[in-house]
Amino acid sequence: MAIGIQTAAYLFASILFILSLGGLSSQESAKRGVYYGIIGMAIAVLATVLGEGVAGQVYIIAAIAVASVIGLMLARKVEMTAMPQLVAILHSFVGLAAVLVGFGSYLDPKTHSLEGAAHIIHLTEVYIGIFIGAITFTGSIIAWGKLEGKVRSKALLYPGRHAVNVILIIICIVLGVLFAQQHGTAGLPYLLIMTAIASFIGVMLVMAIGGGDMPVVVSMLNSYSGWAASAAGFMLGNDLLIVTGALVGSSGAILSIHMCKAMNRSFFSVILGGFGNAPAKGEAKVIEGEVTSLNHEEVAVLLKEAKSVVIVPGYGMAVAKAQYPIYEMVQTLRKAGKNVRFAIHPVAGRLPGHMNVLLAEAHVPYDIVLEMDEINDDMPDTDVVMVIGANDVVNPSAQDDPASSIYGMPVIEVWKAEKVIIMKRSMSAGYSGEDNPLFYKANSEMLYGDAKVSVEKILDYLKG
Ligand code: TAP
Repeated sequence: MAIGIQTAAYLFASILFILSLGGLSSQESAKRGVYYGIIGMAIAVLATVLGEGVAGQVYIIAAIAVASVIGLMLARKVEMTAMPQLVAILHSFVGLAAVLVGFGSYLDPKTHSLEGAAHIIHLTEVYIGIFIGAITFTGSIIAWGKLEGKVRSKALLYPGRHAVNVILIIICIVLGVLFAQQHGTAGLPYLLIMTAIASFIGVMLVMAIGGGDMPVVVSMLNSYSGWAASAAGFMLGNDLLIVTGALVGSSGAILSIHMCKAMNRSFFSVILGGFGNAPAKGEAKVIEGEVTSLNHEEVAVLLKEAKSVVIVPGYGMAVAKAQYPIYEMVQTLRKAGKNVRFAIHPVAGRLPGHMNVLLAEAHVPYDIVLEMDEINDDMPDTDVVMVIGANDVVNPSAQDDPASSIYGMPVIEVWKAEKVIIMKRSMSAGYSGEDNPLFYKANSEMLYGDAKVSVEKILDYLKG
C-alpha cells in the first residue's frame, strides 16, 4: 500500500475513533459509537498490515484470525458481572505489548544506526514506553486478581511506602540517564533493572488500593494503557498508534477524574496509588435500631398504595439478572398511574455505566433513568424506594461515620423517603466490607432473597 493511501487511512481511522468516543458519551448513541470504533480499528489494522516494509503478512493475518476467535469466544462467554476483570486483563495486554515493542525496538539494529539527538530521543521513547508499559502490565494483573477475588482486596499499606515509591522512581530516572549514554546494546542491563522496578511499582500501586476504590483504579489503568500504546506508537514511528493511545489515555484520565468526583477522592492521590483506605478517624459508630423485614405480598401492597416509587439498582441486580422482571414491574406500576423512576449511582455495580447498560438491555426508557444528583433532592417526596441488590451506594455511613472507609463518598439518600425496601439475600456487607446502618432504620424493611425471584413474586401479587 502506498504511503499516501496509508496516511489517508490512518486519518480516516482517527476520525472514526473520535466519533466513536463522542458516540459513547450518551446511551442513545453508544451503539453507533461502538460501530465507528470497530470500523476504525479494522481500517487501522488493514492499513498497517498492508503497509510498506511489513513482511510476513500471512503469519500476521493468521495470528489476527486466531486472536479474534479467542476474543470472540471470551466476549460471548464472559458474564456482565465479570466485565471489569476482563477489561483489567485486556489493559495488561496493552502494557505487555508496550514492553515487548520497547525491547524489540531497542534490540533492532536500526535503532543503533541513529546518531546524536535522534538516537537519544529514540532511547528516551523506548525507556519511557517500557516504564509505563511495565507499570500498566503488573498493575492490571493485580487489579484483575482483586476484582476476581484471587488477590486480597484490602489495601496493603506499610509505613514509608510513599518514600519507597519515590526512591524507586528516582532510581529509574538515574538508570534512564545512564541508559541513554550507552552505545550499541550495552544499555540492556539498565533497561532490564528498570523494567523489574517498574513492574514492582505497578504491583505496589494497585496493592495499596482498597476494595471500594477499585472503580477508579480500573479507569486509571485504562488511561495508563492508552499512554503505553502512545509510547509504543512513538517507538514504532506509527502516527495512528500515537493518536489512538492519546485518545484512550486522555479519555481514561477524564473518566478517572469523573469517578474521583463521584467518590469524593483526590485524583492526584489516586494516580500516586495512595488514596485507598485513608486512616480511619476514631471508633466506628455503633449501629442502633432493629432490623425488620416484609414478605413479597406486603411489599406489593406498599407499592399499590404508593404514588411515587424510586428503584435503586446495584451489583446484586446484575448478579441476579433481575433487570427484565424489574422493567415488567415498572411497566405494571406505570400503567397503574404511578411515577416510577430509577436512581443510578456513578459507581453502582462493578464497572462505569454498569447499571445503565443492564437497564438499556432490558429496554428501560432513558427518560426514567436518573443520575444520583438528579434524583437525590426528590427523596423526601418519594413514597417507596426499592433498593435492589445495592448496598454501598446507599450506605449513610458515607455521610455520618468518619471511621468508615467509604466516608466522603456521595450516596443516594434513600433513607429520606417514606419507606425503604432493601432487597438482598442476607445481611452481608457490600463490596467495601462496611456494615450498612440503613438496614436498621425505622423506615427500612428488608426483603430477603434473590433479586430476580423476589421481583417476580412481587409482580405476581401486583398482577394478581
Ligand atoms: P455492593 O455494595 O457490592 O452490594 C451489592 C449487594 O448485592 C450485596 O450486599 C449483596 O448482598 C447483594 N446481592 C448479591 N447477589 C444478589 C442477588 N442474587 N440478589 C439480591 N442481592 C444480591 O453493590 P453497589 O451498591 O452496587 O456498590 C458498588 C460497590 O462496588 C461500591 O463499593 C463500588 O465502589 C464498588 N466497585 C464499583 C465499580 C464500578 S466502576 N461501578 C468497580 C469496582 C468496584 P447479599 O449477599 O446479602 O445478597
